[in-house]
Amino acid sequence: MSRLVVVSNRMPLGDKPSGGLVVALKDTMEERGGLWVGITREDASFTGAEMPRSQGLENHPGGPFERKSCSIEASLYDDYYLGYANSVLWPLCHGRTDLLDLRLSFREAYLEVNRQLADALARELRPDDVVWVHDYHLFPLADALRRKGVFNPIGFFLHIPFPSSANVGALSNAGELAEWLSSYDLVGLQTNRDVASCLEVFRTLKESEFLMDGSVRYRDRTVDLKSFPIGIEASAFQKIAQNAEPLPRAAHGPQKLIIGAERLDYSKGLPHRFKAFGHLLETREELRGEVSFVQIASPTREDVQAYREIREQLEQLSGSVNGRFSDINYTPIQYINRMIDRNRLAGLYRHAQVGLVTPLADGMNLVAKEYVAAQDPSDPGVLVLSNFAGAAEQLGDHALTANPYDAAQMADCISQALSMERAERIERHSAMLENVLNEDVDWWASSFLRHLEDKSMGTDFLSLL
Ligand code: F6P
Repeated sequence: MSRLVVVSNRMPLGDKPSGGLVVALKDTMEERGGLWVGITREDASFTGAEMPRSQGLENHPGGPFERKSCSIEASLYDDYYLGYANSVLWPLCHGRTDLLDLRLSFREAYLEVNRQLADALARELRPDDVVWVHDYHLFPLADALRRKGVFNPIGFFLHIPFPSSANVGALSNAGELAEWLSSYDLVGLQTNRDVASCLEVFRTLKESEFLMDGSVRYRDRTVDLKSFPIGIEASAFQKIAQNAEPLPRAAHGPQKLIIGAERLDYSKGLPHRFKAFGHLLETREELRGEVSFVQIASPTREDVQAYREIREQLEQLSGSVNGRFSDINYTPIQYINRMIDRNRLAGLYRHAQVGLVTPLADGMNLVAKEYVAAQDPSDPGVLVLSNFAGAAEQLGDHALTANPYDAAQMADCISQALSMERAERIERHSAMLENVLNEDVDWWASSFLRHLEDKSMGTDFLSLL
């Protein structure tokens, strides 16, 4: 039996903050076993004597699967993670070319970290391992591994949106993105829209050939591009929410509760959402004192300037809406700038009449799926979902779809959600729940790995093993 080797920047170590990728892969690894390789930032106090750099992977014992990490010197790590990954690739993939911070040192660090990881990984891999690389931090990893003579099947999954070819043109080395991807056997993307963008980017490379089965041939390699929408561990989350304590009315004051929960990221459209909620209270006086909005926005990547700015903007906006519409017993926006426990979150979802998931750009957005799974099917809440979330491809027909850029339209949507009849809520919710339960995280991982396996059977490198 082949061993599954998952590789990602972040991995579950101690109580470090996680996110969609870590939660989904943890479920996958607990189910299947295997090895998870991540990257850690070398501690400043590290002397280098205990474990020389790029000498291999550090073992983290415990748990149902193996965990190893590749330690990267702190300033190199910062240029790779805060620099190229989160000040170039993240804004690029989320359509924010205005935020690109193109520095040669960032790109060099990014390539160097991928090379160091490939080096350590190449020594760790066994001939029959199947490698599954995750996310934008590691676009060049397969290329670096192939250069070291690794012939194993290597799949890649991008958790965030694939950038448009026009935006990719803003990179200093625009062609390299598709070149890196061509070293994988299978590239998985969240949505069909992402697959279309990725094909577009391959079209900009003269040597690309588009095959009848949808795959792309570039130089001597063929890569399959396909969408695999990521899911959640739906039935487990459903149970957590069912068992959650009911919220005391005093906890949220008025009768109706709207919930939003994400990392405090500029891609999530939080200022737009706060403005739309302000517009709602402004234009519908009868809702003042009757509906409150809890927004959990957990801190993230605070060393990047754009994240510090969005935080200030939200503090200012929540203050201004609250200043305007608060009363002695009423705080319209409860803005929580902390991470909160998943069990508590499940309870909040269950008891909120409206779930607001209105990003400006988002790979999938698992909060949308968690909100659906958490509802009581006999009296469910309403999901208000932006078309710019990947989840809209699966849930968009049954959620209320909102345009995050249009405050008045979003306010209408929230108001429609607050007054929706139970029968309609049940009908919409049951269709979404069916999708969330069927296309769960296990379905996602199995479909991807099955496809990678099928693809690998037809290629030459298996005969070399
Ligand atoms: O969306 C991509 C992603 O990797 C998610 O898994 C997660 O929500 C987030 O980014 C985590 O970011 P970071 O590892 O930078 O904290």
